Amino acid sequence: MTEPPATTPDPHPVDQPHVHGASVELRSVTKHYEAGERGPGAVNDLSMRVPAGRICVLVGPSGCGKTTTLKMVNRLIEPTSGRILVDDRDIASQDPIALRRGIGYVIQQVGLFPHQTIGQNVAIVPSLLGWETARRVARVDELLELVGLDPARYRDRYPSQLSGGERQRVGVARALAADPPLMLMDEPFGAVDPIVRERLQEELLRLQARMTRTILFVTHDIDEALRLGDLVAVFQAGGVLAQLDTPQAILAAPASEFVARFVGADRGLKRLSLTRVRDLEPSPVPTATVGEPAAAGHARLAVATPGIPAGWLLLVDAAQRPLGWVPSARIPTEGVLGATLAEPTGAILTPWMSLRDALSVMLDAEVVTGVVVDAEGLVQGALTIDRLADTLRA
Ligand SMILES: Nc1ncnc2c1ncn2[C@@H]1O[C@H](COP(=O)(O)OP(=O)(O)OP(=O)(O)O)[C@@H](O)[C@H]1O
Ligand SMILES: [Mg+2]
Repeated sequence: MTEPPATTPDPHPVDQPHVHGASVELRSVTKHYEAGERGPGAVNDLSMRVPAGRICVLVGPSGCGKTTTLKMVNRLIEPTSGRILVDDRDIASQDPIALRRGIGYVIQQVGLFPHQTIGQNVAIVPSLLGWETARRVARVDELLELVGLDPARYRDRYPSQLSGGERQRVGVARALAADPPLMLMDEPFGAVDPIVRERLQEELLRLQARMTRTILFVTHDIDEALRLGDLVAVFQAGGVLAQLDTPQAILAAPASEFVARFVGADRGLKRLSLTRVRDLEPSPVPTATVGEPAAAGHARLAVATPGIPAGWLLLVDAAQRPLGWVPSARIPTEGVLGATLAEPTGAILTPWMSLRDALSVMLDAEVVTGVVVDAEGLVQGALTIDRLADTLRA
């Protein structure tokens, strides 16, 4: 298989290169903040399992118990009842401090230490673990780089000298510092603008493709949840788990009216963004190579290609790279097919493009049939808008 281009990591890697994760399991976990509290607690009879190496995104309206759930996993809060297992070991019997050293935690309000520099903040866990200075310093720079903060500029500043979004990124770097097998991330990208947010999401997925750890990630944002999660846990008020499944399954079959409303009316379009061009088998397309006799082009068009609009021939170069579509009326009656015959505007679909982006490119092109190319840009076939619609109906 070819490597994905750097900007579009595969969120669901098939071959997990290096799983370095811890499974997390909650068994009938309930949390009442006040003793003897009546009615639903902050978290209510919650059972879920996240396999090692997966990203599970907890999503739901404010106050539905997401933060409480995370804090029970690293024992900042103790459940009223129920059990929590990390790597199949009950955490209630583990030393909370030792437990937390193995769990990266990005808290909702970042929580940097104000009197320590950014570098010192990022190095907190490595310092606790007794890393030697050189290794610690190198790690700090590597992580600041990773979250898009120039180490030379940021390392020696104090948190008050950073913007809210920059502080959030430091929080993420700090949680990653000791490379823990389990990360708890509570709205880690909440305070950054959409462009930086998207970059951080991509970074997280890229990191995950390289070094697979288990992540419980909290967000309000359903799109972020669907994009990042191998699994998405949709919560509703009262700390009730409404659905836990893959993004595809949730979009295809929401378990309740609540989940359907929460994922939104544009469910179909969201499903398109989860599927990539390479996931579909392209239809065959009539092609002709530059320099071939015009008669050969006519002959190829005379044979109907299922699923492809009649009367269009795809002109390719000698290497099979697409040059453009030629309408049958422009094919000369004699001579050879020249490159100038091709109308340049056609939709080119690359393997890692989401079907949603593919649809957008196709709607923008003069010829709405998309030409599917492989990673080297060679023609593989074509996709029509009807095919995309069929995919959604399936
Ligand atoms: N220390 C506390 N004492 C009492 N009640 C609390 C405490 N912390 C949270 N709660 C309540 O428990 C419920 C769940 O809170 P939690 O912080 O887990 O929600 P959340 O899903 O993270 O919300 P948000 O999306 O707004 O961060 C809320 O009703 C909240 O008011
Ligand atoms: Mg919260």
